[in-house]
Amino acid sequence: MEKGGYDFGMVGLGVMGSNLLLNMADHGYAVAGFDLNEEKAKKFEASGQQGQKLKGVNTLQDLVDCLDKPRKIMMLVPAGKAVDSVINQLKPLLDNGDIIIDGGNSHYTDTIERINRLKDSGVHFMGVGISGGEEGARRGPSIMPGGDKEAYKVVGPILEAVSAKVHGEPCVGYLGNDAAGHYVKMVHNGIEYSIMQLISECYDLMKHGLGLSNPQLSEVFGRWNSGEMESFLLEITAEIFKKKDPQTGGFLIDYISDRAGAKGTGKWTSQSGLDLPMPVPNIDVAVMARNLSGLLEERKEAAPLYGTREQRIALEEENLESLIKDSLHFATLISYVQGLAMITAASHELNMEIPLEDVVKVWRGGCIIRAASLEVFAGIYHKQPGLKNLMLDKDFAGVLEEKLPAIKKVVSLAAGNNYPTPGLMAALCYFNAYRRSYLPTNLVQAQRDFFGAHTYERVDRDGIFHTEW
Ligand code: 6PG
Repeated sequence: MEKGGYDFGMVGLGVMGSNLLLNMADHGYAVAGFDLNEEKAKKFEASGQQGQKLKGVNTLQDLVDCLDKPRKIMMLVPAGKAVDSVINQLKPLLDNGDIIIDGGNSHYTDTIERINRLKDSGVHFMGVGISGGEEGARRGPSIMPGGDKEAYKVVGPILEAVSAKVHGEPCVGYLGNDAAGHYVKMVHNGIEYSIMQLISECYDLMKHGLGLSNPQLSEVFGRWNSGEMESFLLEITAEIFKKKDPQTGGFLIDYISDRAGAKGTGKWTSQSGLDLPMPVPNIDVAVMARNLSGLLEERKEAAPLYGTREQRIALEEENLESLIKDSLHFATLISYVQGLAMITAASHELNMEIPLEDVVKVWRGGCIIRAASLEVFAGIYHKQPGLKNLMLDKDFAGVLEEKLPAIKKVVSLAAGNNYPTPGLMAALCYFNAYRRSYLPTNLVQAQRDFFGAHTYERVDRDGIFHTEW
């Protein structure tokens, strides 16, 4: 077995792992991948192009042996026990200064625990979020590293080489202490859930409310995907409505069950929002909507009990389409507002020192939520790095105000015509609550004090008060 000679190692040669290594090889790095499956390792080794240095191994010892020091080893294995198992097997084989990178969607609290566990071992550990799916890994993902700053200096150049680029800038950057990378990736996914939910609500309104066909939907979403609304999720949505089903000859979308799956990162974002606490209602309802979609049998049972069905919306087609477009824009912006406010709060709460401007810059390319608006957000954070919430920016307030009449109208039409649009409604409610200096929660305080002597604060003087009601 040759010793050294390879720059980067990967544990897990699934599509993501091997694609990321192939991407590194394209940038001149010598890369080695470990997989227990001999076939996979062999296939990987054979997949390089001439002049590239690729190695596939079947033991972690072989992986460790072929890497130059300090060794840089990433694992792309399912979150949870598999990550700990790899760490436990790798650690005794490594030397001081070697770096283990968890590139999967690990829960940030697990990452904090792993960082603490490895702190005194001499081995560096980094939690790094990677977005962009299989294609992103191969051609340029968005990479969200956090944790050990010294380790980042060593792996940073490799990550920068393989990441997506926007205006020549790499979509990667050091995003803060401890589990910052995985925290930012978690919220990225929460926002992803939210935007996907919003697009599906607009699809419902246009398919049933307007009676648009699949080719028309493709055309509309494709047209929306430009200028200030340009985004990867709109781009793929337009593609989806074109796809034919080879088995039936119909459009594939019409044969896909509406029971939505989830691997958990959206739920984690909601849970973290509740814990902080920092409201992220659009992420909450997106998780809820997927859960509700899973109650397929019950929904089928309920449908005939309530004769009311979603119906055609009596409004001129062009007019309604443009109102839905502005509503989607408004609610998508609010999804980012909530997610970014949450990162700001968590950064403070968990001492992660997350640079918000860099977060939105990293999200501009390669990731699932890449969109033109991120450039706008980067400008806002550049001017006001400590901004608690994007809604507090004067120019951004103007953009929201401009779209407001549309979402008010669409939400009322949706409710009046029996369409469930929890995402659009949540965005409008969040906006309406956040922009008000006075909320009816003084009554909640009075009730709490009435039945439980929980006390309240007053608007006219300092102190804590209780009343014998
Ligand atoms: C990404 C994606 C990726 C994954 C989601 C899917 O950024 O590349 O977010 O991480 O596709 O986790 O999540 P669900 O299966 O929960 O929808």
